[in-house]
Amino acid sequence: MTVSLTIENLSAHYGTTQVLKDLSISVAAGELVSLLGSSGCGKTTTLRIVAGFLQPTAGRVRLGDRDLTTLPAHARDIGLVFQNYALFPHLTVLDNVAFGLKQRTIAKPDRVKRAMAMLERVGLAPLADRLPSALSGGQKQRVALARALVIEPPLLMFDEPLSNLDAKLRIDMRVEIRQLQRANGTTSLYVTHDQEEAFSISDRVAIMNAGRILQLDTPEMLYRKPANAFVARFVGFENLIRMKVTGRDGAVVTAEAIGGTKLHLSQDVFGAIKDDFVLASRADGLTVRRDGEGIPATLGTRTYLGRAYQYKCQTAAGEITANGALSDPLEAGTRAMLTPVPEQCCILDPED
Ligand SMILES: Nc1ncnc2c1ncn2[C@@H]1O[C@H](COP(=O)(O)OP(=O)(O)O)[C@@H](O)[C@H]1O
Ligand SMILES: [Mg+2]
Repeated sequence: MTVSLTIENLSAHYGTTQVLKDLSISVAAGELVSLLGSSGCGKTTTLRIVAGFLQPTAGRVRLGDRDLTTLPAHARDIGLVFQNYALFPHLTVLDNVAFGLKQRTIAKPDRVKRAMAMLERVGLAPLADRLPSALSGGQKQRVALARALVIEPPLLMFDEPLSNLDAKLRIDMRVEIRQLQRANGTTSLYVTHDQEEAFSISDRVAIMNAGRILQLDTPEMLYRKPANAFVARFVGFENLIRMKVTGRDGAVVTAEAIGGTKLHLSQDVFGAIKDDFVLASRADGLTVRRDGEGIPATLGTRTYLGRAYQYKCQTAAGEITANGALSDPLEAGTRAMLTPVPEQCCILDPED
């Protein structure tokens, strides 16, 4: 049975400190959604509320048509995988995996069969009789994954499950988790602070900061169309230039920034442009030219990237990183213009 998860307007406090602020997320049946944000932004707190380890001060959690908000943790049937594995040290691999089945009073032959089948799927059947202390980190995490999956939960939650593994194993395991999750069609909420991990494993990613969701979208949309300045910075838009509209002529807007910048931007490309806005780009969203329309700049350090030269540029709006053609390398100190490449730029609201 595949069901959706709906988190509605959650607030949470530790003492008098509010750590979640009106947080809403919906995860479609069979979908994997990640919470991505820096340490302390409230990811684990969100999972703890969904799991039933912490009561929210406002809001609701629904799984399919069941309201979980006030159900005790043990009645929620959620599979959990943590960073530190949380295996029972005195139980064998097989008994660890079978534990949830035993709790559900499944008879021994059946639970051994199901636990062994799950161990086969994570490639650990030969280690069924070992104790966790005789396993590597990656093997422990596979046991934890098998233990979470074997109860066939309607919802799986992962809290930084790969953080204790080395880089190569992290990549292998995230592929495995994704394959198992897809094969079972289990609705999943996944927590990580690693952007590459979140983008590679998820159907959609929720970017979190200070207890709020700033954007919940597909990795492609987050990468190309960040909804605000915070998300833009997060996904690598390093140039955020504050601009003001000084003229409008049909769809074309004339906009200026401090220091003699004058740009013409088409609302057919960018959508409606408000009088005050931020032009956001990565380095390849601004082209260094000797002249023409753009942001006046003095070129600094030049770096060869193979496909382009990259320049650190001094402008009246601060330091900007922009790329220039390989055919025309420019020296430090050259006066140049930085011209936006419209499809690589975003128009955002200014931050408060
Ligand atoms: N048990 C607790 N008591 C008090 N404050 C806590 C507790 N757990 C977490 N916090 C605080 O709540 C905020 C969110 O924490 P957490 O949800 O663990 O963040 P994340 O998982 O994103 O790193 C942080 O500021 C953290 O210090
Ligand atoms: Mg955490």
